[in-house]
Amino acid sequence: VSPAALEEQRIGLLGGTGDQGRGLARRFGLAGLQVSVGSRDPERAERVAAELRASAPQARIDGLPNAAVAEQCDLVVVAVPWDGHATLLRELAGRLSGRLVVDCVNPLTFDERGPRALPVPEGSAAEQAAALLPDSTVVAAFHHVSAVLLLDPAVDAIDCDVLVLGDDRSATDRVQALAELIPGVRGIFGGRLRNAAQVEALTANLLAINRRHRAHAGIRVTGL
Ligand SMILES: NC(=O)c1ccc[n+]([C@@H]2O[C@H](COP(=O)([O-])OP(=O)(O)OC[C@H]3O[C@@H](n4cnc5c(N)ncnc54)[C@H](OP(=O)(O)O)[C@@H]3O)[C@@H](O)[C@H]2O)c1
Repeated sequence: VSPAALEEQRIGLLGGTGDQGRGLARRFGLAGLQVSVGSRDPERAERVAAELRASAPQARIDGLPNAAVAEQCDLVVVAVPWDGHATLLRELAGRLSGRLVVDCVNPLTFDERGPRALPVPEGSAAEQAAALLPDSTVVAAFHHVSAVLLLDPAVDAIDCDVLVLGDDRSATDRVQALAELIPGVRGIFGGRLRNAAQVEALTANLLAINRRHRAHAGIRVTGL
């Protein structure tokens, strides 16, 4: 999948007003893609899109209600907190039919001892998405890339790999190519969706590392 082919696609972000959604929107916008930031609140979506355009004037970024993002975008990234994941996807299942849905949701909780991965009845957030969206193609990716780094205008290249998981080879190839539009990032196939749980859960370890080192740690796979 060439970057040129990706540039013709419209990328949407459900929950695009949060840190992760804004960070990915900014980087995809800088890479030349047409991006739609989604929200439950259309005014918030427009406000965030305007802020992102102000920080990256060449980027084509607009703001829409989540439902319109699902309907109008070819590739839709799910960037909502875990506790809103199932409800939102159930609500948008019809509109997401036929779409490539990229899930970056980490089912985590935090207490006084730090972050912890939550058990998920379906196995993982990505498998829950696949169960709720039988007419979409679900890929899991972007779990370990820091929103702080994505949003930082002083960070030109992000030093990390993005693990991309899914059951459809052409879909994972597309998402690997999408990840590689972010300077410094390598997209690496990480297995089928049934292996997503430990990738999501590993984020708890990265957050523990971040707390200890006051860092924004990512992962690199060696030997490739
Ligand atoms: N932050 C990171 O560095 C990072 C990195 C990798 C992966 N992730 C994953 O990305 C997801 C988003 O993270 P975040 O830090 O951006 O979270 P966030 O800022 O707390 O939430 C993102 C957006 O989701 C929407 N939202 C909140 N609760 C919702 C609900 N119950 N139903 C539907 N929409 C809801 C909100 O948008 P509106 O109010 O505008 O609708 C909010 O701006 C999480 O699942 C996280 O695990 C985050």
